[in-house]
Amino acid sequence: MKKRVLVTRENLPGHGVGRLSEAAEVVAWPGDGKPGHSDLAALAPGTSGVLALGNDPVDGALMDAAGPSLRVVGLASMGFDNVDRAAAAERGIVVTHTPGVLAETTADLTFALILAARRRIGAAGASLAEGSWGLFRMHDYLGLDIHGATLGLIGYGQIGRAVARRAQGFGMRVLHHDPYAPDDGLSAPVDLATLLAESDIVSLHVPLTEETRHLVSARELAAMKPTATLVSTSRGGVVDEEALLAAVRGGRLHSAGLDVFEREPMGRELSPLVTEPHVVTLPHIGSATETTRAAMVDLAVDNILDVLAERPARTPLPGTPAAHV
Ligand code: DGY
Repeated sequence: MKKRVLVTRENLPGHGVGRLSEAAEVVAWPGDGKPGHSDLAALAPGTSGVLALGNDPVDGALMDAAGPSLRVVGLASMGFDNVDRAAAAERGIVVTHTPGVLAETTADLTFALILAARRRIGAAGASLAEGSWGLFRMHDYLGLDIHGATLGLIGYGQIGRAVARRAQGFGMRVLHHDPYAPDDGLSAPVDLATLLAESDIVSLHVPLTEETRHLVSARELAAMKPTATLVSTSRGGVVDEEALLAAVRGGRLHSAGLDVFEREPMGRELSPLVTEPHVVTLPHIGSATETTRAAMVDLAVDNILDVLAERPARTPLPGTPAAHV
């Protein structure tokens, strides 16, 4: 008999879910919007696997709703802050994510945010569209240079390194702060205080954990140059958004480029950061290309199929077991 796998959305990109349904009985949340906790819990009983997105809460209650058959949670995301890892460990459930397949795409978007925030691309384009460009004036739409600037990467894993490689083409000096990453010739390891003080652009590439929550707060923002730009494609919770808003409004920070927020999605109830002139914001599209999103689903499916077939998962969360016990 086929094992049941709960998929938290219908119509995921690529052919991964099609492959999954050849080997397992797929139960997908059929609604249009985001499923609530009780929606998923109602579909969970008897499932052996769950394929979830990075913002679906996967907690002990959902694991218990699935019952003892649950062996694997395959996330179609690199970030894993939505999963109660302790609850999974207690129940011997393997949790996997998708490193490797989205670093280059997310690094591309990081550069889009850097360019847009420092060169004020959104504001300049909007002014053109509203018919305000009546005269070429030397002092209009002035931004700050990217080439030759110092880029500070907080977190130097796959995405941070992909950003550092792109920075070489812009002739940038690159620094990183990451206790696990040595000097690789692309970027120099420095302590956090040096990175904040010397960088023109600070870009965040750490997962959201208890250690990284509000890693960038009022104190860190005050330690940055007033001409600096903060960029985040990691998770909203890494930045204290109130402190960021105050720093930008107070002219203590040039600009910010954000793809992630503490509250996601926002619907019509927008964060004040979205309408702030020197802040460029996007709706969490770091990995959003057709190829990459399909590759993320594919890897999540491969991980689930491996664990269900009693093979070790390909990409378990860092420091967690690859096999169900
Ligand atoms: C990731 O992979 O973590 C992206 O942010 C999408 O969830």
